[in-house]
Amino acid sequence: MHRRWFLQSCGFAFFFVALQYAHGDLSYSVQEELKRGSVIGNIAKDLGLEVGSLSARKARVDMEGNDRHYCGINLRSGDLIVAERIDREEHCGEKPSCVLKFDLLLENPLELHRLSLQLQDINDNAPIFPKDIVKLEIRESADKGDRYRINAAQDADVGKNSVERYILQPNPHFLFSIQTTSAGRKYGELILNKELDREEQQEMKVLLTAVDGGSPQRSGTVVIHVIVLDANDNAPVFTEAVYTVTLPENSPMKTPVITVSASDADEGVNGEVTYEFSRLSDKTQKLFLLDEKTGDISVTGDIDYEEGSKYEVFVEAKDGYGLSSEAKVIIDITDVNDNAPVIYLKSLTNPIPENVSPGTEVGIINVQDRDSENNRHVRCSIQQNVPFKLVPSIKNYYSLVTTGQLDRELVSDYNITITATDEGSPPLSSSKTVQLSVADINDNPPVFEEQSYSAYVTENNKPGSTLCSVTARDPDWRQNGTVIYSLLPGEVNGAPVSSYLSVNGDTGVIHAVRSFDYEQFRSFKVHVMARDNGSPPLSSNVTVSVFISDVNDNSPQILYPAPEGNSFMTELVPKAAHGGSLVSKVIAVDADSGQNAWLSYHIVKSTDPGLFTIGLHSGEIRTQRDISESDSMKQNLIVAVKDNGQPSLSATCSMYLLISDNLAEVPELKDISYDEKNSKLTSYLIIALVSVSTFFLTFIIIILGVRFCRRRKPRLLFDGAVAIPSAYLPPNYADVDGTGTLRSAYNYDAYLTTGSRTSDFKFVTSYNDNTMPADQTLRKSPSDFADAFGDCEASPEVGTHFICY
Ligand SMILES: *[C@@H]1O[C@H](CO)[C@@H](O)[C@H](O)[C@H]1NC(C)=O
Ligand SMILES: *[C@@H]1O[C@H](CO)[C@@H](O)[C@H](O)[C@H]1NC(C)=O
Ligand SMILES: *[C@@H]1O[C@H](CO)[C@@H](O)[C@H](O)[C@H]1NC(C)=O
Repeated sequence: MHRRWFLQSCGFAFFFVALQYAHGDLSYSVQEELKRGSVIGNIAKDLGLEVGSLSARKARVDMEGNDRHYCGINLRSGDLIVAERIDREEHCGEKPSCVLKFDLLLENPLELHRLSLQLQDINDNAPIFPKDIVKLEIRESADKGDRYRINAAQDADVGKNSVERYILQPNPHFLFSIQTTSAGRKYGELILNKELDREEQQEMKVLLTAVDGGSPQRSGTVVIHVIVLDANDNAPVFTEAVYTVTLPENSPMKTPVITVSASDADEGVNGEVTYEFSRLSDKTQKLFLLDEKTGDISVTGDIDYEEGSKYEVFVEAKDGYGLSSEAKVIIDITDVNDNAPVIYLKSLTNPIPENVSPGTEVGIINVQDRDSENNRHVRCSIQQNVPFKLVPSIKNYYSLVTTGQLDRELVSDYNITITATDEGSPPLSSSKTVQLSVADINDNPPVFEEQSYSAYVTENNKPGSTLCSVTARDPDWRQNGTVIYSLLPGEVNGAPVSSYLSVNGDTGVIHAVRSFDYEQFRSFKVHVMARDNGSPPLSSNVTVSVFISDVNDNSPQILYPAPEGNSFMTELVPKAAHGGSLVSKVIAVDADSGQNAWLSYHIVKSTDPGLFTIGLHSGEIRTQRDISESDSMKQNLIVAVKDNGQPSLSATCSMYLLISDNLAEVPELKDISYDEKNSKLTSYLIIALVSVSTFFLTFIIIILGVRFCRRRKPRLLFDGAVAIPSAYLPPNYADVDGTGTLRSAYNYDAYLTTGSRTSDFKFVTSYNDNTMPADQTLRKSPSDFADAFGDCEASPEVGTHFICY
């Protein structure tokens, strides 16, 4: 038994032919797709026919209903052979067993045998998918576990040789499984094992391989092309979470600031990104504009660092279906030096007294700059040419301080220009002018325009006439510079100066209080004070020298011969006198000076005109010729003495001459003349003595009276032109006591002639008193004096009156 199974197995292995002997029917089993000529079986043997008879009997094989000859008979060997390719799948399709039926015909005699050919499948077909490529569109939002149908592969072979399994190319997203419909049809399913992300992978191709169980194994593949459809599953994403940008202030309109950009991984509308500001303050909204399409942020307003130095704006990016995200944009504004410093005057002492010491704080200044960093570092300065400086104090404060002594009289106003410059580039600066006045301090005394003043006045001036004026200047302000003039108390010839002069306190014009007499004094000095009205007042004084000039107001005064009233004086002329001998001399003086006192002598009338001459300036009477006997003994001459003034004044006198050698010849004459002469002289002397002592006493009384009255009535001295008795005045021939130059100008010596024979000495000694000018006599009555001096006891004596002739 074992052996037989073994042999059968071997037979199957070689030919797959199983001889089934049945009467009339033959059945063979054969593999499909054998080569032509392959032996299926030996019919001769199986039918028990002789091989040689086959050809004679015309053995042949026909297929039912088909004119094709798949099988043939080798007539020489009786083998059934493959005549044509036999495809199982062609004949039986999916049927699991496939039997082809043939008829074996033998002729002569006709013999019909049924021949069954069992076709055995070989794996000659590979599995085939309906399409090479399966396109699958899967939305990326598809969930895990979703299934997608895939048509199964077909394999024409059957049994083992048909599709055995599927192999899906390994991939992260899909699995494959095979399902069977209720109708028994198979199909595949692609199962989503992991969610898709279009943004990660837009499409993928997965190879699905179907393999059969044949040997050799065959396979078929299909490419599953998975296209991932977009879902709006991505919000736009900004390139940066925080954008930082710096922008200089004052950037013009439309300056691009920054471009924000967000990308959306989605497609189409899902990926269309628009931008807009979110959470924007009104202020910021006016400054920046965001292009909703491009994300460009640009300037639309005035960017002022001082208004805001940093802006934080939020930009939202949205896609078409409203997914959004946000990014922050930090815009740092950089400072530009666009603000000039501003100077504030915080305090100011105005005006400042001119005597403030150097270093005094006058004002406080504050400087501010709205910029930042270096742009707000400010330096302050003031111009050079003022005595002020700025001293930096705390922070941006400066003290304005004096650097030197101020003088209102030099500069009374300062315009102090303070300049503040910041350290920006370019630097900006501003300036402020502070007006500062200097207040006056009474620091200048009045100063006379000249060092001294001289006034020239002719004598006999009218009281009240203007002599001169003095002017002093005081540069101080208002009352500190208002000058008031006054006479300094003093004495001139023992009388207060105010009795001579007065000064107008406002104008400085000096008036004579009284009439001056050159013959009394020729000059005097007073001091005038100029005082300002400050407190305390300052003053200075000046010397005013008053020079009185002469007027021809005095007639010549004939001293010898004596005046006519006592004219019994006789000169003796010796009979033997020769021509030219000196006979006598007329002596005259003139109280005036200079030309006014330059005397000339003329004989205006004589007994014998040819006998005597007189020296024009000497007054010497000389014989013109020798005396002769015929000449009359008594000679009479009338001599006129003239001064040289304009107009000239004159005096005349008579001279009696007796031509005789012996006085005894004319005794009556001699006595008389002698007595006359003597008594005259004596009375002169007496009168002179009396008057001198009277004047002195009067002077003392007046001085005492004045002192006394001054205490009781102090205004008396200022009461205008009070006549003071001339008696106490010093002699009018006192020396001119002016300065050297004045002295030379006024240095007229008194022209006086002195007698030749009569003693000059006599006249000189009594000269001062005797020559009191006639017109100078006080004409005021004692009652007038009482008026002037109030209830003073003074009753000065009236001066003496001399008359020539
Ligand atoms: C100061 O400024 C004022 C006004 O500008 C001007 O009138 C005055 O003359 C100036 N003073 C000086 C000293 O420059
Ligand atoms: C005059 O000077 C005094 C100080 O000497 C001062 O106080 C006063 O204000 C000044 N007067 C004027 C008008 O300037
Ligand atoms: C005024 O003059 C007197 C003397 O003549 C002198 O003593 C005085 O100092 C002077 N005063 C001034 C302010 O110059």
